[in-house]
Amino acid sequence: MTDTEPNSPPSAEMLGLDVRNARLAWDEAVLLDDFSFSAPAGSWTCLLGESGVGKSTLLRTIAGLIEPVSPTEIRAHDGTALHARVAYMAQQDLLLPWLSAIENVALGARLRGERADRERALNILARAGVADRANALPSELSGGERQRVALARTLMEERPIVLMDEPFSALDAITRTRLQDLAVDLLDNRTVLMVTHDPFEALRLADTIFILSDGAQPGRAAIVPPGATPRDPTDPALRESHQTIMQRLSNGAARASGDMA
Ligand SMILES: Nc1ncnc2c1ncn2[C@@H]1O[C@H](COP(=O)(O)OP(=O)(O)OP(=O)(O)O)[C@@H](O)[C@H]1O
Ligand SMILES: [Mg+2]
Repeated sequence: MTDTEPNSPPSAEMLGLDVRNARLAWDEAVLLDDFSFSAPAGSWTCLLGESGVGKSTLLRTIAGLIEPVSPTEIRAHDGTALHARVAYMAQQDLLLPWLSAIENVALGARLRGERADRERALNILARAGVADRANALPSELSGGERQRVALARTLMEERPIVLMDEPFSALDAITRTRLQDLAVDLLDNRTVLMVTHDPFEALRLADTIFILSDGAQPGRAAIVPPGATPRDPTDPALRESHQTIMQRLSNGAARASGDMA
């Protein structure tokens, strides 16, 4: 996680998010145009889409790490700017290599010049299953352990809006399920925007799913899975939604490669 405004205090308020007419582009190359969505306060939204469609670019734009391309508008529901209310977990974990795992988890407080709550940091590391690695440096951790520490750092902050880019991708199936459950528990009442490659993960966790295809109608219609989260992926209703998502992903891919009108 990188705080876009490290000097601001953490906040426990609930806050929704609006993205309007988003255009994602690098130089002249437009990745995605005219993409709008709302994430209601306290909801969990997943963004799906094939590799290279612009998911990370969108998340980094919302995090304030990339200047929005005109006419993109990004706003908190109270009409104010988002920075300082956002916690961001990057696709690459961005752990500081010279700090131990627990120091990385407590980094936000340190950047704000506050005393770190070591006990809370250790508790979150324990719930992420890596308390015994608290004093290890990132270079001494496995890829999955690093991801757990990065997730713990995101969970440590009290920001109302949490942006996560494939936070569970380096984990084995059992650990992934455990950490998804932990994230649902600890991120209760936060507005979560999560990028994932995995339709089942989105169906397990999201209140709403958007598909960012580089086709004609990017993400226009959202998919709203049934029931409370975290859902049972063996639920037949989820299997049906999975089919719909796969169909829409492959339609988007076909459009992008010119196979469809
Ligand atoms: N800093 C940059 N400068 C120029 N082009 C970039 C930059 N970052 C990303 N891109 C390009 O923008 C496109 C979208 O990248 P992005 O990382 O947003 O995709 P993604 O949907 O997150 O993909 P993945 O699922 O593989 O993570 C890619 O073609 C990528 O090469
Ligand atoms: Mg990405």
